[in-house]
Amino acid sequence: MARKYLIAGNWKLNNGGLKGVELAAAVVQASKEVAGLVEVVVSPPFTALAAVSAELEGSHVEVAGQNLYPKDSGAFTGEISAPMLDESGAKWVIIGHSERRQYFGETDEQVGAKVAAATAAGIKPIACVGETLAEREAGNTMTVVFRQLESIVPELNKKPGFGVIAYEPVWAIGTGKVATNEQAQEVHAAIREQLKKTSAELAEVTRILYGGSVKADNAAGLLACADIDGALVGGAALDAAGFAQIAKAAKASGHDN
Ligand code: PGA
Repeated sequence: MARKYLIAGNWKLNNGGLKGVELAAAVVQASKEVAGLVEVVVSPPFTALAAVSAELEGSHVEVAGQNLYPKDSGAFTGEISAPMLDESGAKWVIIGHSERRQYFGETDEQVGAKVAAATAAGIKPIACVGETLAEREAGNTMTVVFRQLESIVPELNKKPGFGVIAYEPVWAIGTGKVATNEQAQEVHAAIREQLKKTSAELAEVTRILYGGSVKADNAAGLLACADIDGALVGGAALDAAGFAQIAKAAKASGHDN
């Protein structure tokens, strides 16, 4: 079964107002030729979600939140729920990004609860996993990634193919040190094998994105790998033309996803 490429831009703490709307409009223009062939997603800060969603209405580009709180409503000052993401026009949400795990103490258990809340509300989760440099050097990459997957996979299995996984080695995020194609493919293949233990269908339909210093000039090689089904792009997503180049590289990739 074919897995459609997904190229998602993670804007992080940037473009939370009018600039976000302008960037989103520029992404639509720059990536027109991949419409219908590659899924393209942008994730503005919460403050720009509704305005960006309105701007993108009817286009091929969809919107993601960068986080959510796993309760629908209530006394949780400063938090945003999955139904609120839905109201704002978001169809996706990034969950468990390493910056959330590192700076905000997000646990595997919370990540699992967030994936569950998103799925229940009809918001597609992009669940992030990945090892630090120290973990890789200690030979613990798979142990760490499999541990992070434990809370995510049962939730993804409630609706196989709905949510996606993003493998983002922490040492490659924002550092310019991209994983080699072989390093990335090795972990992606291992993640797919791990999914198979839950179900063959889940392994077959779940898209696994690579993230960490993906740019226009390294995207083609990564996206040509058999188990890499797209990219989660940070820094390079802040430039519409460069981001669109990554989506075009996905379109051009010959492999039989
Ligand atoms: P980067 O970020 O592309 O700037 O390395 C990726 C991410 O954090 O999702």
